[in-house]
Amino acid sequence: MSSAIGDRRIARLRADAYRVLAGNWREGRLADGTRYGFTCPAPPRYRHQWYWDSCFHAIVWRHFAPARAREELRTLLRGGRLDGFIPHTIFWHDGAGWRRAPFYATHSLHGDRATAHIQTPLLALAWEAVAAASPDEPGFGVEALDALRLHYDWLECHRDPDRDGLISIIHPDESGLDDSPKYDAVFGWMSHYRPGYFWLVERSRRLRYDSRAIIARYDEHVEDVLVNVFYALGLRALARLSGNRVYDERAQRTEHALVARCWDEERGLFWDLAGRDHTPLRVSTWSSLAPLALSSLPEPIARRLIVDHVLDPRRYRSPFGIPSVSMEEPSFRAGWHLFRCWRGPAWMNTAWLLVPALRRHGYAAEADRIVASCLTLVERHGFREYYNPLNGEGLAARRFGWSTLLVDLLPSVADRSHEVPETPFHGNPREELLSMGVEAAAETSRRVGAAARKRLWSSQDGRTGGEPT
Ligand code: GLC
Repeated sequence: MSSAIGDRRIARLRADAYRVLAGNWREGRLADGTRYGFTCPAPPRYRHQWYWDSCFHAIVWRHFAPARAREELRTLLRGGRLDGFIPHTIFWHDGAGWRRAPFYATHSLHGDRATAHIQTPLLALAWEAVAAASPDEPGFGVEALDALRLHYDWLECHRDPDRDGLISIIHPDESGLDDSPKYDAVFGWMSHYRPGYFWLVERSRRLRYDSRAIIARYDEHVEDVLVNVFYALGLRALARLSGNRVYDERAQRTEHALVARCWDEERGLFWDLAGRDHTPLRVSTWSSLAPLALSSLPEPIARRLIVDHVLDPRRYRSPFGIPSVSMEEPSFRAGWHLFRCWRGPAWMNTAWLLVPALRRHGYAAEADRIVASCLTLVERHGFREYYNPLNGEGLAARRFGWSTLLVDLLPSVADRSHEVPETPFHGNPREELLSMGVEAAAETSRRVGAAARKRLWSSQDGRTGGEPT
């Protein structure tokens, strides 16, 4: 692959990725002496430490500066509680602020140092990857075993009350896929992009975020496929790090439950299960494909996911990256929308999760095509938060940390990225607003154009029915 893409292009991409991560790096000490060091996803919009972003950042940092990768993960652990709970977002250097606080799932509206809800748990997976890149600190792999065990035990104890091996989320953003259309039917008016989300948070606040009590009292909770795939990957990593087979057995239970309960043989996709009745959420999103990342997945299932979905140009085979929602879904939206970002755009972590699985199953050419298209996206638009999978437009936040995951998909080349000067990046709210305005205008004009074409089309040829393309 390196020869096909060219070492110089890869070296340039690595230097740019380094510049983004280094510019977004924040370190310091709290008044009580607690140290922190982490990468903001994208200042000024995302200034705090997010759980899964940090894991992705560490996975990339390990290519450039393993010490930073270690500090990022240690900081995440430091933000957690002694009982094993690790928050979705931690506000280290910069409080949530009165304007933002109501948007965050915190215990109170001010003064909290972190949220009280979780995010997709891939810490052990990231820890293992960083440990493997830490010959300079051989003890790193085992130094946090107790804390990691507590974390995964907390998840099992608090988030799997029906003991079926699948953990639940109680807020849509706990998966990281905040406004995914797969949650519309469950959360309805309390969806992440609707005003009722405030009530969802308030409701959890009143129950002190006691997830067992919340799951028992309310029906809006989801056994999410993507969350459970990462949970299983984390348990497998923990088993390898600790040598404790119990975590392998737990991973196996989760993997088995995914196939036994979430797999739909007829549609050839995995569905999240909602509420106490385990109602399948039949909306095809990249979550439905995520079990491909599990090496235990039976071959016939993997093949169907790939052949019938990943390779189908009506579904997931888009010109750029992999869309977050199947292009065939009525809810699919490729472009920019206020507060909605997981309804179609291509994110880099999707390709990062699925491309290695494509290679493992013998689809190297398709994997290469996807990676090459991602490289084009970054070369044209930089490391944006997400991209339009149809026309390649770069969208939302700039200098977005986990988009550098592309580095992890490309071969390593001799480069001097670490010599790129570190310029702290703070972003500029005016520029952000301006670029959001431009994206919104482009999207609106596309929609107005599409509506006009549709009207014209139906007035010219109403006989055949169907939709213009
Ligand atoms: C958005 C994304 C979420 C991410 C956060 C910080 O809310 O939906 O997955 O963790 O931004 O980047």
